[in-house]
Amino acid sequence: TSNQMWGGRFAAGPDAIMEAINASIGFDKRLAAQDIAGSRAHAAMLAATGIVKASDAEAMREGLLTVLSEIEGGDFAFSAALEDIHMNVEARLKEIVGPVAGRLHTARSRNDQVATDFRLWVRDQLDAADAGLTALIRALLAQAEAGADWVMPGFTHLQTAQPVTWGHHMMAYVEMFGRDRARVRDARARMNESPLGAAALAGTSFPIDRHMTAEALGFDRPCANSLDAVSDRDFALEFLSVASISAMHLSRFAEELVIWSSAQFRFVALSDRFSTGSSIMPQKKNPDAAELIRAKIGRIFGAQVALMTVMKGLPLAYSKDMQEDKEQVFDAADNWLLSLAAMEGMVGDMTANRDALEAAASSGFSTATDLADWLVRELDLPFREAHHVTGSLVALAEGRGCDLPDLTLADMQGVHGSITEGVFDVLGVRNSVASRTSYGGTAPERVREQIARWTDLLD
Ligand code: ARG
Repeated sequence: TSNQMWGGRFAAGPDAIMEAINASIGFDKRLAAQDIAGSRAHAAMLAATGIVKASDAEAMREGLLTVLSEIEGGDFAFSAALEDIHMNVEARLKEIVGPVAGRLHTARSRNDQVATDFRLWVRDQLDAADAGLTALIRALLAQAEAGADWVMPGFTHLQTAQPVTWGHHMMAYVEMFGRDRARVRDARARMNESPLGAAALAGTSFPIDRHMTAEALGFDRPCANSLDAVSDRDFALEFLSVASISAMHLSRFAEELVIWSSAQFRFVALSDRFSTGSSIMPQKKNPDAAELIRAKIGRIFGAQVALMTVMKGLPLAYSKDMQEDKEQVFDAADNWLLSLAAMEGMVGDMTANRDALEAAASSGFSTATDLADWLVRELDLPFREAHHVTGSLVALAEGRGCDLPDLTLADMQGVHGSITEGVFDVLGVRNSVASRTSYGGTAPERVREQIARWTDLLD
């Protein structure tokens, strides 16, 4: 038997393989709530504009609520023969309210319907990501506040560079996740236009009110071009792009946590709640959550490349290719939100090892730049010469197997005669970080200002 929604011109139903490649119900059932909200708004508009009778619209709107509660209650038989969520919902509505259900699709197509549903779904995910990022930022602020003046090594090339503070390092991620949050908000504002009423591609001759449905669904306005409304998926691509950048930030931080929690670093201890053990090595406590977050960027970025590739050659307007948008976005959204929650949990629970951080900061000649700066400031050496003198002192200490503060004044003067006792003041790591008071620098007072700024911003 042919399809009850479009089978008029068909003598035979689809081959089983055709049904298998065509049906999207296996995944687009996740759009049920959005689909029903869109249909309820559409029905109300059809009544308000006199396109259907108010009593018919009311029956459809009530019936749609019944369908929704059946789906939410797990009490709904999804049918692959009905292809997708749109036709599954409408077919069930017809069983509940009778032939009047056939009026729901007046002045509408599945093309504007799916574009509307999917925008609503993506918009919800952006709001969830906003909340997830905000929670993560708060967890980082708490870490930063606790250790605003704890000293740790700052790295370039993963080689000891200059001492920084724990708070400063945490606040670097606050800046990154803060930009992610801003990107989420930008994307939301840009995508918040309603495709509903674009119909198949050309608009409709019925006197519909697209502003009414747009407003009912929380959109800022209707999409201005019906061809664009049904064929655009850049809202989904922008979502994936924002998710990719944010997942990349999560992945970098996860990589640091993997390194920091190793026995060789011991910078942090992850909580038992966010670690796993080994079935053979009893001593192991593995940072699996961090590793999985590090890996998730692979599939999220993959989703972006996949959908970009699906879209890149499609002529206007709708093509069935576009049905392939959903699984990529669903998977990316699930994994991004899960990663945000896992990172928030790990950061909230982790304990920084203040002593290990400071000890690591004090090795590797991390205050060599402070020494060179001192030579410039106190002895008026040109920086290049100060750099050279300091290099010689580092080589001397390295040869002796000691750190810069372990050299004697006589050692120092052997390299440059004018060096005085005062030089030892700048060789300690605490002095080093305290001195970096330039705007955005690592000095604890600067870090505390940034913590206060972010705390205000979130409240
Ligand atoms: N399941 C389809 C999708 O996800 C809905 C739109 C179908 N439209 C059509 N003209 N076949 O894209």
